[in-house]
Amino acid sequence: MTTQIIEISYLLAAISFILGLKYLSSPETASRGMLLSQLGMFIAVIATLLNHSVVSYGMILVGIVIGSLIGSLLATKIQMTAMPQMVALLNGFGGLSSALVGGGEFLRSQAHLTPYPMTTIGLTVLIGMVTFTGSLIAFAKLQELMRGTPIVFPGQNALNLVFFFVALGLFGYLAFVPTMTPAFWALIVLSGILGVMVVIPIGGGDMPVVISLLNSYSGLAAAASGFILNNNVLIISGSLVGSAGIILSQLMCKAMNRSLGNVLFGAFGQIAAPKAQVAASPDKQATPAAAPEVRSGSPEEAAEIFKKAKKVIIVPGYGMAVAQAQHAVRELAELLQNQGTEVSYAIHPVAGRMPGHMNVLLAEANVPYDQLIDMDDINDEFPETDVSLVIGANDVVNPAADTDPNSPIYGMPILHVDQSKLVMVLKRSMKPGFAGIDNELFLRPNTMMVFGDAKSTIVKMAEALK
Ligand code: TAP
Repeated sequence: MTTQIIEISYLLAAISFILGLKYLSSPETASRGMLLSQLGMFIAVIATLLNHSVVSYGMILVGIVIGSLIGSLLATKIQMTAMPQMVALLNGFGGLSSALVGGGEFLRSQAHLTPYPMTTIGLTVLIGMVTFTGSLIAFAKLQELMRGTPIVFPGQNALNLVFFFVALGLFGYLAFVPTMTPAFWALIVLSGILGVMVVIPIGGGDMPVVISLLNSYSGLAAAASGFILNNNVLIISGSLVGSAGIILSQLMCKAMNRSLGNVLFGAFGQIAAPKAQVAASPDKQATPAAAPEVRSGSPEEAAEIFKKAKKVIIVPGYGMAVAQAQHAVRELAELLQNQGTEVSYAIHPVAGRMPGHMNVLLAEANVPYDQLIDMDDINDEFPETDVSLVIGANDVVNPAADTDPNSPIYGMPILHVDQSKLVMVLKRSMKPGFAGIDNELFLRPNTMMVFGDAKSTIVKMAEALK
């Protein structure tokens, strides 16, 4: 009877996860999706606790208390801009816990392991350890605990291949000779080294794609551990995470017009990194004065222009997140709407530094969902737009993506703000964005730069508009 209750609960949990994922695909239903997924996870945890093979409820309680404390502390303290590294850390712990399940099962039943369970244990440990150490490197790069630029050395790919094939060899060997304990420890160590080796050559800016991929790996490790424990909900949820992660990685790559291989093998990081460094060097930190052809204006002048605008499109980017300007942006938009101006927000799929970054920020500021328009749906509207207000966005509006075949972002779909009657760009300087390249949009005759921190500029604009 208990087994039936557990399996039915697992089925309910799996349905909640699938529906939750479906709801998460739209900002309007995303909160519902989160709630449903949380409910599914709650049902799955409670059902698992009913299992007769639970050894110690006391130990589980200790784990729940410590884990919940650390989790809630991290979640409340973390800045929105640091969310990618938080996700990296959580993925890493997911991978580690799967590897621990594999290790525990190996030590428990080593004497009578047959090739099938040993294969699932080997897979769990291999993928789990790669996820764990790879995620720690991703975290360290994003948290600037280590150099964000790609770490490369001669023969790196060949060495990685050697590590990979030795790990694969150990995995195959153990499937038939599970009593060989040193080979198991060697597999753990080698998998950990492999995780480090595959992530260090990737530039810090590409980490969000890597994190999404590692998220997928953590799901696969969990699914493999589900086979070890004969636990259906772990297999289903692990597979969902595995596939969702890989789909998300693909979507991010597509939006940047790059292949996953290009991201993983660091080609872009190596092109972009030196340029970004040059741009960051003091003598290259161009100020408005050092770029005389740039047309710039004050927030008050911008407000005068807004008074006559009938249609405004707001284009948020990473700088809006840095400035935490989303609430001020919503207030400015409301002022414009009150004077009869049509306002909408153009959302580029990779604006910011993580998937859905702009949607999350604007939702937090209570911007109505129907005003958030995806890139493909809004691009045709720019020619009839009076003002495109670009707030801390750079690469996602860079015309070089269309016009310069030598540009590292050539082919990346962009928001065609340059087609609007006036482009107002809010940023602090002429410095480049993530891709480390100049933006010719800032020099165009229909562009007006408003220099300064995005939040204070917008507050000043709103004051002047009032
Ligand atoms: P970016 O091209 O990175 O440009 C952001 C701009 O914000 C910078 O040029 C910066 O200029 C400005 N800025 C920073 N702080 C500011 C502040 N306090 N006030 C005003 N402006 C500020 O951003 P984007 O246009 O959103 O493009 C995103 C980039 O990240 C793309 O290249 C994309 O491929 C990449 N990427 C995205 C993702 C995801 S999933 N979103 C993942 C990986 C990579 P100043 O320094 O002059 O102020």
